[in-house]
Amino acid sequence: MSTIISKTKNDPVALKTFFSSRILKRKKLSKQSSSRATYLLTMDLSNFTGEFLEGDAFSIKPVNDPLIIKDILSILKLDGQEIVKHPKTEGSLPLYKFLQTEANLGKVSSKLLTLLTKSQSETQNLLQTLCKEENKFEKKAFLASHDVLSLLETSVPKKVSPQEFTETLLPLLPRFYSCASSHTKQSDSVDFLISTFEYKTQGSLRKGLSSDFLCHRAQISDGTIDMQLHKNTRFQLPTDSSTPIIMIGPGTGVAPFRAFVQKRIKQNASKNWLFFGERNRVSDFYFEDEWNFYVNDNNLKLSVAFSRDQEQKIYVQDKLYEQRKEFLKWLDNGAIIYICGDAKKMEKDVKKTIIRIFQEELSLSEKNALLHFKDLYSKKRYVTDVY
Ligand SMILES: Cc1cc2nc3c(=O)[nH]c(=O)nc-3n(C[C@H](O)[C@H](O)[C@H](O)COP(=O)(O)OP(=O)(O)OC[C@H]3O[C@@H](n4cnc5c(N)ncnc54)[C@H](O)[C@@H]3O)c2cc1C
Ligand SMILES: NC(=O)c1ccc[n+]([C@@H]2O[C@H](COP(=O)([O-])OP(=O)(O)OC[C@H]3O[C@@H](n4cnc5c(N)ncnc54)[C@H](OP(=O)(O)O)[C@@H]3O)[C@@H](O)[C@H]2O)c1
Repeated sequence: MSTIISKTKNDPVALKTFFSSRILKRKKLSKQSSSRATYLLTMDLSNFTGEFLEGDAFSIKPVNDPLIIKDILSILKLDGQEIVKHPKTEGSLPLYKFLQTEANLGKVSSKLLTLLTKSQSETQNLLQTLCKEENKFEKKAFLASHDVLSLLETSVPKKVSPQEFTETLLPLLPRFYSCASSHTKQSDSVDFLISTFEYKTQGSLRKGLSSDFLCHRAQISDGTIDMQLHKNTRFQLPTDSSTPIIMIGPGTGVAPFRAFVQKRIKQNASKNWLFFGERNRVSDFYFEDEWNFYVNDNNLKLSVAFSRDQEQKIYVQDKLYEQRKEFLKWLDNGAIIYICGDAKKMEKDVKKTIIRIFQEELSLSEKNALLHFKDLYSKKRYVTDVY
């Protein structure tokens, strides 16, 4: 295992190296009727020597699905015991181990395609055509619609050397997870909120690699998981705890806000407003009891949007728009807006809604509303952690 642990407290090297962790607890937060499963994991930090803050994330090294590795080895007529040289580190290891922890089996490289054009498979001609310069768009689309297993299934190679195969695989990259607990609440462990999902590749069902590994395949308390801290200096709580904060976090985007609220309660900071959104209230209202506890103590203002509880979708930005006058009051009082979750659509739509509120409520032209937004942004009063 590639575990390097520096024991020096606050040593920047310690923050950049992997340490070994394990899952202490795993609880399904979504109810049985939910259209997807979301879990709360508690990860062991007893080997971690750095310090994390609310807003930081950890990355983990996922492990590939043994069933997929078995199918790949079977197509290649290899048993996995073959010793290969790691293309990056040059260290020797069994092919099985390489496929387990080092190779990205979800994405196909051009190199693998080229290797298969020489493998005398039935689809050799198709692959050779795809590799011609004039077909670069078709090749790109082909690569994007296959993973390593689906490619090998459609063009079973006659013979491939384990080392050559190894050298065509892309590296397996770590996955990030936001800290969903504050170190002031628990210092020897950290919580993650993780959503699982399935998708199809060439008609076959696949699971998200890391989410499936952490939520289903990894053993609890047993085995080690390599983890690394990622500081997120942009996405931190204000040093002055009297500053109001507005948190917008649909889906797993709510994770860092659980840590934020835990810390704010310790600081006796009660100006906290959370916008949470998910699909259905009955099945996907993560941390409902915790939020309600804070609401009852007047430490949290909560606005929720359950998108699939009615015919027409309702999203967090619709709730924000509904409460636009109150939102502007909070901004007048110096509030910082934090947004976490989906980068592709959600964050852009929330931003549009904020600009619309400025236009309508402050009677600003579109240009001036945008300038007003940019002013907030430059003053670090609109901060995002989106993925
Ligand atoms: C800073 C940061 C913080 C993050 N924090 C969290 C967090 O707190 N909780 C969390 O769950 N995730 C979080 N993520 C996302 C996380 O790192 C992984 O990307 C996520 O778990 C999916 O990884 P995977 O290996 O399971 O899926 P992969 O195997 O990498 O995904 C396979 C395919 O599915 C698609 N896909 C990815 N996600 C989904 C999805 N949700 N639904 C449908 N298709 C999808 C991908 O586009 C890809 O084509 C964070 C990411 C970043 C960058
Ligand atoms: N195919 C993919 O690559 C894919 C697919 C899904 C998620 N993801 C990624 O996974 C991460 C987190 O996803 P998640 O599962 O925690 O939550 P999520 O998919 O972002 O969903 C959480 C809630 O946000 C709603 N939502 C959808 N579009 C929105 C928008 N434009 N504005 C505001 N709210 C919106 C969803 O509603 P509805 O679902 O009812 O519309 C749902 O109620 C994100 O990075 C996301 O990009 C990737």
